[in-house]
Amino acid sequence: MKPMGPIPAWFAGEEGMLLVGGCGAASLVDEAGDTPLFAYDMAIIEAQVRRFRAAMPATLHLHYAIKANPYAPLLARMTDQVDGFDIASGGELAMALAAGMDPDRISFAGPGKRDDELTAAIFAGVTINLESEGEGRRALAMADKVGKAPRLAVRVNPDFDLKGSGMRMGGGAKPFGVDADRAAALARTLMDGGADWRGWHIFAGSQNLDTMAIIETQAATLALAARLSDAVGATPPLVNLGGGFGLAYFPGDVPLDIRPIGVALDSALDTLPDILKPTHFAIELGRWLVGECGVYLTRVVDVKVSQGETFVVVDGGLHHQLAASGNFGTVIRRNYPIAVANRFGADPADDPVTVVAVSAPRSIGSATRWHCRPCRKATSLPSSSPEPMAHRPAQPLFLVTQVLANYYLADYCVLNS
Ligand SMILES: Cc1ncc(COP(=O)(O)O)c(C=O)c1O
Repeated sequence: MKPMGPIPAWFAGEEGMLLVGGCGAASLVDEAGDTPLFAYDMAIIEAQVRRFRAAMPATLHLHYAIKANPYAPLLARMTDQVDGFDIASGGELAMALAAGMDPDRISFAGPGKRDDELTAAIFAGVTINLESEGEGRRALAMADKVGKAPRLAVRVNPDFDLKGSGMRMGGGAKPFGVDADRAAALARTLMDGGADWRGWHIFAGSQNLDTMAIIETQAATLALAARLSDAVGATPPLVNLGGGFGLAYFPGDVPLDIRPIGVALDSALDTLPDILKPTHFAIELGRWLVGECGVYLTRVVDVKVSQGETFVVVDGGLHHQLAASGNFGTVIRRNYPIAVANRFGADPADDPVTVVAVSAPRSIGSATRWHCRPCRKATSLPSSSPEPMAHRPAQPLFLVTQVLANYYLADYCVLNS
């Protein structure tokens, strides 16, 4: 049986009940009215932001990639925590603006931007990180129609990647960005076309736990930004260095220590080539900022045995936790962190169980359940589970998993602080 990933250190229990933002899991379920739900603790995010600021150069901007969790109350609270938002769609643009983020501090990356999304972004005055020459041409054409100089940056497909990343976004043929050897020409075309050129966006990979790999990639990113700026003959107002700070999801993963990254970046920013001296720099993070701030709470609805294996069936769904279900680009299924919320901290049992999430679209009041699918293998749940639930259905038994990078919208959420 495979072991589980680590429960983030920020979570504790009181008399066996998991606390989120100081509230017991059972009270949060009462407040929400039902399971499943996501419960977030804003204080965990704020502490993470403080860790970032303490470790990184004072001049470095911190941008939040809102795809990691666009829950509206959370976004509203993030506006004064970070220096900018990264968005990836017209929908996210609307959410970022509704949260109160200043359009000057929003940038829009991602291939496949439609004309209406480009128009909305230009109209709002957000920076568009262009993913191709074609997108550049369309942005200039839309800007003409809107009658506004567009704020355009070039997303570069770097000639290197972030080694050991969950997702590599450079170092070969990629759908992301413009190949490094064509990026300067595109920047020139944009300026000649009347755009307000905002600089470079160089995002080489995500979900990385290797400090040295991140340091080396940032050094390579700065060198590339300098080379491209020399080729354009202009100082970029902003260089977005990407991100890639990962989370320890799986057994054996060691949380990333960002302090050496800050030290290396500090000295790199101190010794910049002249062309980059007036430039502002940003790091763009999603999961590292918010991925450990909350939990996904489900209720056990059935316990069954099949051919000697015990299955705990919960009222969650893999449409809520696709990554944890092993269906999100994972070749080998591994166990994300999971615990029993109302037996929090109890000793693990000897007998492993398999947790099954109901894969069903739920709407408030109807709770339609279609079919069950194995969601994930959980090992060694605490010994008092799950039998009591089978005999005492009135007694709720909650399972919790770490809210990973929540790359989709949750149905029910509680924000606690
Ligand atoms: C352009 C861009 N920025 C930021 C992110 C967020 O990455 P992470 O959650 O690993 O920090 C992504 C992830 O796909 C991305 O593509």
